Amino acid sequence: MSDRTYLVLLGAPGAGKGTQAQLLEERLGIPQISTGEIFRYNLKNQTELGQLAQSYYDKGELVPDEVTIRMVEARLSQEDAAKGAIMDGFPRNLLQAEALDEMTAGYGGINVVPFFQLEDDVVTMRITGRRVCRNCDRVYHLTFNPPSGEGCDSCGGELYQRNDDKPETVQNRLYIYYKQTSPLIGYYFAKGLLEEVDGARSIQEMQEQLLERLASRNVKAAKSAVSD
Ligand code: AP5
Ligand code: MG
Repeated sequence: MSDRTYLVLLGAPGAGKGTQAQLLEERLGIPQISTGEIFRYNLKNQTELGQLAQSYYDKGELVPDEVTIRMVEARLSQEDAAKGAIMDGFPRNLLQAEALDEMTAGYGGINVVPFFQLEDDVVTMRITGRRVCRNCDRVYHLTFNPPSGEGCDSCGGELYQRNDDKPETVQNRLYIYYKQTSPLIGYYFAKGLLEEVDGARSIQEMQEQLLERLASRNVKAAKSAVSD
């Protein structure tokens, strides 16, 4: 029996994976690993990885598997992931899913795969209103989850709109999601790991439903929310 917990958050772009992962991180005491955020950090700092990822990222296409898989492997071996991780945006196709199975096999494998369900038109509304902190990556929505002032509530950083959040790119991201990522719903269902969460609920309600689903699989919150 392993004491590591690995979650895979599955859902379309804009379904709320990042928002829920950021809330869950504190609750479970394991880090969010967002491949999208790692790419954005590297784009911002114009690293070799960032330059390689740029053209794929800007079109909403997947960065090549060999690069992404190596990157995740390195991230999972860092000290803060010694008790597990909340995977946000990885895996995104079957090859990546098989790679993650191998990476976690020695630690009891993946515990649960929460799947956030949401209609495409809501997805578009969520994405176009999104703003992200340039400094700490905290996610906001102009209407549904606005910051209390001009900058980020956590660190005061500048809020910006992601490059791939333009309407024409959003369509392509949805297309890529249905073609490459949605087969993972069946993959994890067949393994008995899938737990559906209603992505149309409020952020707080989604978090509650998510925690219930996790508890039903014996993944329990280590800490209660600050607002409890
Ligand atoms: P990534 O950053 O992973 O983007 P994504 O999958 O398209 O997902 P999003 O971040 O857009 O949505 P989300 O589900 O996190 O929603 P959020 O919580 O922000 O990937 C970007 C790119 O990187 C890819 O296109 C690809 O190029 C590359 N990449 C990444 N991973 C890769 C991989 N594994 N392989 C290859 N390439 C990869 O919420 C959205 C908005 O809605 C926010 O404004 C939020 O405030 C609001 N909101 C959230 N929940 C609610 C709610 N319940 N009610 C109302 N509003 C809400
Ligand atoms: Mg995200």
